[in-house]
Amino acid sequence: MACILILLGAPGAGKGTQAVRLAEAYRLTHVSTGDLFRLHLGQGSSFGLKAKEYMDAGALVPDEVVLDMLAERVGQPDCEKGYLLDGFPRTLAQAESLGSRLSPDDQVVVLALDVSEETLIRRASGRLLCRSCENIQHLDFKPPARGGICDSCGGELYRRPDDAPEVVRERIAVYRNQTAPLVEFYDQLDVLTRVDGERAPGEIFEGLRSVIAERGVDLG
Ligand code: AP5
Repeated sequence: MACILILLGAPGAGKGTQAVRLAEAYRLTHVSTGDLFRLHLGQGSSFGLKAKEYMDAGALVPDEVVLDMLAERVGQPDCEKGYLLDGFPRTLAQAESLGSRLSPDDQVVVLALDVSEETLIRRASGRLLCRSCENIQHLDFKPPARGGICDSCGGELYRRPDDAPEVVRERIAVYRNQTAPLVEFYDQLDVLTRVDGERAPGEIFEGLRSVIAERGVDLG
């Protein structure tokens, strides 16, 4: 039996921030399709090059590209006992494909972060990412102690090109049209819980932990 945690939420909702904490707390492999595309792009691989034009425009990468990349990643030994999905699935076709990969005794828990559009834009527009580790900071909400330097590892902080305001607005619109319907999809399967994502990161994390415990997930 494997346990699959899915973090669902709009761009800037805090999926990555919470995923890092959850992966550490439960020793689960963190699988972020956005991070995988950025990694592939940095390596100049075909997945990365195919994804770039869509990411730059704030559009979704075509399902067939995402599904091949995801299958390759979750087929690795560190995902055998389960994994934490961040940014996947994002379409009904992706959700159905994921469902077809799972065994009947696998446990799926979907954690949906609810955040207002105003907050999403503020969070994405101030986001700073570390080039060397998974740390995510913010110009206002988690400012670096030394400008441009990661608080966790001393690496270089950078801004994502798709965090430009016009691209963020497009990404939010894409989320509303193509990904938000998954809330109902998973709700009908009775595996989804909505969590207030407007609170401080530590409070949200405790909320997510409570849901995981209430759902009876055995993550050790
Ligand atoms: P991806 O990288 O997945 O981006 P996203 O889903 O748009 O989500 P973000 O990474 O923008 O936000 P987040 O929710 O992780 O927020 P974070 O924790 O960083 O995807 C990028 C692109 O790749 C897509 O547009 C698409 O093109 C492509 N792609 C990826 N997956 C795909 C798929 N499955 N199918 C097709 N295409 C795909 O937080 C944001 C900021 O807010 C940070 O600065 C953080 O410090 C701050 N913050 C977080 N929580 C709080 C809080 N509680 N209080 C205050 N500040 C907070």
